[in-house]
Amino acid sequence: MSLLDGKVAIVTGAGGGLGRCHALALAKEGAKVVVNDLGGARDGSGSGKAPADKVVEEIKAGGGNAVANYDSVGTMAGANNIVAAAINAFGRVDILINNAGILRDKTLLKMEEGWWDIVINVHLKGTFAVTQAAARQMAEQVTNGTATGGRIINTSSIAGLVGNFGQSNYGAAKAGIAGFTRVTALELAKFKITVNCIVPLAKTRLTEDIAMIPDSMRPEQVSPLVVFLASDLAAGITGKLFAIQGREMREFKYKMTDGATAAGDLWTPQEIANRFNEITA
Ligand code: NAI
Repeated sequence: MSLLDGKVAIVTGAGGGLGRCHALALAKEGAKVVVNDLGGARDGSGSGKAPADKVVEEIKAGGGNAVANYDSVGTMAGANNIVAAAINAFGRVDILINNAGILRDKTLLKMEEGWWDIVINVHLKGTFAVTQAAARQMAEQVTNGTATGGRIINTSSIAGLVGNFGQSNYGAAKAGIAGFTRVTALELAKFKITVNCIVPLAKTRLTEDIAMIPDSMRPEQVSPLVVFLASDLAAGITGKLFAIQGREMREFKYKMTDGATAAGDLWTPQEIANRFNEITA
């Protein structure tokens, strides 16, 4: 028995980089995989079938089972088609990996509306759209007794959780995905559908020009975390963020200080100034 025998997984943006590695790793553990990829350039322009087709061939060559899908995650129709591809080919959906992504970096003062919109669309709306379509199917399977739960794994970034120069659009989308993860984890708990988020760092075409990410940080080093979260080994783990780079893995946690309470009914700006160290300690 492999970890994911009998499971059906969707991986968005699986034609290259991290998504390709996730798809191969899930297939190796027995999952049947929908390899979704729009097949465009790093900036989201263009489209093509070759990247998704190639990964499907790779999976099949390794003895696995996969089908390709070329829809964009950024429209409701595309998201529904991606989930329909899983149902048509394999009859169900157990695992969704929201991974598709693009970059359009510019500093705030130079940011163009179109660059803002397309990055928010692919990352944030794309994560929402495919999650909604897949979660509806997963919830239906739980309700009709053909599944005991589901697994959704999103992809955030240090660019949004910590901040990175020149990436206000991307950072906002990626921080939004972290918030979306925590809210949907609460909402889907009653169906035993877990929702977690990875925060990866790896050398891919998105990061090929970032010198601080060495070639030795390989995308396949990220995929075991995805397989773990997709498997029964991670039952009950939900609403969490896991950062992974190379061989290092950690949980990303938000922290609130112990804080302070106003002396009277309302804080005054002066009292905030006077007690700033206490509030932030
Ligand atoms: P990549 O460019 O190799 O892979 C992204 C894939 O998504 C591409 O194959 C692309 O064709 C596909 N895609 C783009 N728009 C799409 C759409 N609308 N619909 C369907 N597919 C679409 O880049 P990489 O690095 O593998 O990125 C994967 C994810 O990991 C992205 O969400 C990225 O933001 C995230 N990430 C990557 C980091 C890294 O260090 N490589 C760091 C933090 C986050």
